[in-house]
Amino acid sequence: MLDLDVVRSHFPAFDGGATPRFFENAGGSFACRQTVEALDRYYRTTKVQPYASYAESRRAGEQMDRSHARWAEALGVADHELLFGPSTSMNTYVLAQAFGGIIGPGDEVIVTDQDHEANTGATRRMVEATGATLREWSVDPHTGMLRLGDLERLLGESTALITFPHCSNIVGTENDVAAACKLATDVGATTLVDGVSYAPHGFSDVGALGADIYLFSLYKTYSVHQGLMVVREHVAERLPNQSHWFNATDPRKRFVPAGPDHAQVAAAGAVLDYVEATTESAGRDLRTTCELARTAWQDHEAALLEPVMRLLDERAGVRVIGPTEAAPGLHRCPTVAFVAEGRPSGAVAEDLVARGIMAGSGGFYANRLLDAVGVDPADGVVRLSWVHYTSPDDIDHLLNALDATLA
Ligand SMILES: Cc1ncc(COP(=O)(O)O)c(C=O)c1O
Repeated sequence: MLDLDVVRSHFPAFDGGATPRFFENAGGSFACRQTVEALDRYYRTTKVQPYASYAESRRAGEQMDRSHARWAEALGVADHELLFGPSTSMNTYVLAQAFGGIIGPGDEVIVTDQDHEANTGATRRMVEATGATLREWSVDPHTGMLRLGDLERLLGESTALITFPHCSNIVGTENDVAAACKLATDVGATTLVDGVSYAPHGFSDVGALGADIYLFSLYKTYSVHQGLMVVREHVAERLPNQSHWFNATDPRKRFVPAGPDHAQVAAAGAVLDYVEATTESAGRDLRTTCELARTAWQDHEAALLEPVMRLLDERAGVRVIGPTEAAPGLHRCPTVAFVAEGRPSGAVAEDLVARGIMAGSGGFYANRLLDAVGVDPADGVVRLSWVHYTSPDDIDHLLNALDATLA
């Protein structure tokens, strides 16, 4: 059970005067106090080159090591399978370069139109450059959802790689990652899963999900502006090194050619201290604590989702993109995108902003998905997204604003 007062007391964004009615969390979340303090501490006391023998440098390296170890435990993978890079877009770009070294004519690569462009564009370009064959796993144009049966028909013994999202940044309903990964693994294909839109609502046991590669962006999970990627060992050892030649055997650098942002890597693990501080973590390992937090977060989010969906459902001329309810066993993340007939999405968003709601509109880099479901990406959708720190009072403000805006 989530204690919202305790949760919100950990976010400096709620310390000020007016309560922010923040509904663009899918773009980036507020950072928790632990993150802000860890960054501040690093800059004040250990802002030196890490991993030398003097005390400040040793401490800097220890904080970075701690982030690696803690995140590996949280996600159920080994420390050497976890990398921090500048962003998910950069990480997928580098991974596409790496896959370009082992994929060629005769291989097939499956991509989707449900992804944010970051998890599909670079892979598509790689396929074109290598002469491999591109296969499209397309969404159902009515629901915006990917169907497992369609994937099954695309998979074959030539499938080398499949990239897909854990959850779309528009549609909101989780995909059955475990089932998709199982189908892919059965034919020997590698899976690359974009967890960016799902991770703010729960940190997954990546080992249990079965994804070979799993990525998300920490700035959307109450943490620093870094991309986190898990590359399982059996895949990492098949992919060519993308860093300087002498870093080829360093698992933290192999797929991160950029020099690490020491302070952000050092502070990246602090959000897990927040999770422990707000979950009954005593006597539990971090993985178990993350599972408990996920359940508490998602129960809270689901309760807040229901009245918003009801209002949008009942309003004539409003079309919610994607399912309004979760599929059995799959979480419906509170990322709600809609269009209002006859009104530009930008104008609707402006109206909500004028009523005190922090929300935006546009294509959100999901142009392919919007095209597929018949929405003009240039106008885009209005997107409302929240997370576990959002309160019932925030939702009341949102409902009032929507009621007036969509009258
Ligand atoms: C679903 C999804 N994937 C990938 C990205 C790209 O992440 P980054 O900003 O870390 O490059 C985003 C960013 O909004 C996203 O929403």
